[in-house]
Amino acid sequence: MNGTYKALWLNVTGDLVVIDQTVLPHVESTKILKTCEEATLAIADMTVRGAGVIGSVAAFGVYLAVRQTKVLNGEFEAKVQALKDARPTAVNLQWAVDLMLDRLRGASGDLVTKAKEEAIAINNDEANKSLEIGRLGADLIEVISKREKRTVNILTHCNAGWLAVIDMGTALAPIYEAKRRGIDLHVWVDETRPRNQGANLTAWELGKDGVDHTIIADNTGGHLMQHGQVDIIFVGADRVSRQGDVANKIGTYLKALAAHANNVPFYVAFPTSTFDFNVVDGVKDIPIETRSEDEVRYMIGLHENGNIEKVLVTPKESRALNYGFDVTPNHYITGLITERGIVGAELSKIEEVFKDLL
Ligand code: MRU
Repeated sequence: MNGTYKALWLNVTGDLVVIDQTVLPHVESTKILKTCEEATLAIADMTVRGAGVIGSVAAFGVYLAVRQTKVLNGEFEAKVQALKDARPTAVNLQWAVDLMLDRLRGASGDLVTKAKEEAIAINNDEANKSLEIGRLGADLIEVISKREKRTVNILTHCNAGWLAVIDMGTALAPIYEAKRRGIDLHVWVDETRPRNQGANLTAWELGKDGVDHTIIADNTGGHLMQHGQVDIIFVGADRVSRQGDVANKIGTYLKALAAHANNVPFYVAFPTSTFDFNVVDGVKDIPIETRSEDEVRYMIGLHENGNIEKVLVTPKESRALNYGFDVTPNHYITGLITERGIVGAELSKIEEVFKDLL
């Protein structure tokens, strides 16, 4: 809180320090971001990732831009526009930049201090939303635990923990809260090819918190559901449409289809800042990022020589296609867990609960 969060913090000279997520789980290191350009690059090259933390770094990125230009001139506008364009799918990026600009335009006095305070205020607010999402989701786990009187098996895809959303995550927040309540649980962690956010980041986070978990290949979840080994699924979101269609890491849609076919509750957890109320039909209109083929053609890991190395896992000549996200239509979603409560993934229900934001 107040500028210090688990995945990122301000240092004494007012620079932004972030955990370098490209080398986890093998190396725990940080990067110091001193300029808006460095914040933009850290988002684009995925040093930091996850919709929430992308928004957090974006808010601080605007503050760094003000620290560079001192005034909101053309140079400043160019910096924050490049920041806004760092990645296309996670709406928290645009949300955070626009909110900072709303709060800075027309402001007088020491703009650098004002920008720092506003970035901290936005991040404190997001951290509080994460806590509430944790409480609401843990209540769902508790119901299953009391009903089944055994270990509750949860499946999650990608990483939506505190590395992705300050300061407790979204999809992982219910798991941390349920563990804190002493509920016996186990987590199936999708490796989440091609960048392995599950195997690298979620497993690392859960291990640090002593949460029992098992890493599975992305194609394993359906089989586990068929055999009753998954009680509930929690995933995060990068952009949620007005009718409740959800964009999240590629592969989420396939998990939702398997969950639907096997009557496994499928919940999506996210803060209100991840809604894009301008989009109704998410499958048609949410921008989906495509990234380098090499993320599919190569794997990165720890070599026995102690170095982190990249190895080619495909024929040299073969092309690859790399969509970063997909969209799960609302009718496959059991509920949307937000800081305002668990809401049905339906246009009328969303418009009712969030009418003040429309
Ligand atoms: O490409 P990434 O690692 O930024 O994708 C992250 C996800 O898809 C998360 O599940 C999502 O951002 C939710 S975390 C708030």
